[in-house]
This record gives sequence, C-alpha cells and structure tokens, in this order.
Amino acid sequence: MQLLINGQRTHADADPATPLLWVLRDQLNLTGTKFGCGIAACGACTVHVDGQAVRSCVTPVSTVQGKDIRTIESLGSAEKPHALQQAWIDEQVPQCGYCQSGMLMTAAALLARTPKPTDADIDAAMSNICRCGTYQRVRAAIHRAANSVSSGATKSASNSAAPKATGSAA
Ligand code: FES
Ligand code: FES
Repeated sequence: MQLLINGQRTHADADPATPLLWVLRDQLNLTGTKFGCGIAACGACTVHVDGQAVRSCVTPVSTVQGKDIRTIESLGSAEKPHALQQAWIDEQVPQCGYCQSGMLMTAAALLARTPKPTDADIDAAMSNICRCGTYQRVRAAIHRAANSVSSGATKSASNSAAPKATGSAA
C-alpha cells in the first residue's frame, strides 16, 4: 500500500491490520517512534496523522492510507531544531529519553492548535507516561517553546513593519 510519510510517498508491504507503529519501525526503519505498551496507554508511539496526535500502536495501517503521516524524524533536525526540541534542550527535559519522541509529538500537536497553552491545556493534552517523571520539565519546556514562537512572531512582524516605517519616513 502507498503511504505519505514525512512528505514522501512510500510503499509498504503489510497486512492492512498491522499497526502503523510496526510499519514505521520494521519496514521503514523510522525507529524514533517507540513501542511502550501496545495498548494506547503510554504515548511512546505517538505520531501525527493529518495534524492530530495519534497512538500508532493501535492504528491499523490501512486506516491512514492517503493521510499525512508525520513522525519525530520530520519534526526538526540538529541544524534546525523545532522550537520544542530547542526548549527540551534548554530545560534539560529527557532523562532516559525513551518516552520523549512521543512527548514531543504530542506537544507539537498541542502547540499547533493552541499556540499559548495554559497549564491546564498542557495537563489535558499531555497524557503520555514517563517512567522517569519528567512531567514538570515537559510543562516548562512547552511554555518556553510557546513563548519563543510568539516572541519570534512578534519580532518578524516588527521586522516586516520596519521597512514600511523607513519607507514612509523617507
Ligand atoms: S506503545 Fe502506543 S500508547 Fe504505548
Ligand atoms: S525520560 Fe525516561 S521514560 Fe520519560
């Protein structure tokens, strides 16, 4: 079957009922997405499907054909980290790291729909489980990323206004 993963059309040879997680990991070598519980309880396997955070361990691959699937591998890079990844570094969030790709993907979906989340928004969205107990740092990092994105937006808005101001002054 044909899948759209991280912006690329990809062929996967799998039984339609196979969980998306195993197609990603075993067939496509996208191993940033982790297996934790297999019953939609922990969130280690979270990916985006059409912008929504989805637990890939319980998502049959046949149900995501034709949809926009994004994994942690597409969130950012070492050279150009996503605002959340930079905030994760700044807040020193990860401990063992196992749950963190799922945490980041859940947080990215949250920020996409709620750019300035409250603590309550974060607590409601972040149902991922971390055995190392990084919850307070996760929350701090989400706030940091939200602030950095909004201050960046303010800066670029004022930058784009600057030439106009100069032009009108001249
Ligand atoms: S492995 Fe999917 S929710 Fe735990
Ligand atoms: S950092 Fe270890 S499980 Fe979350």
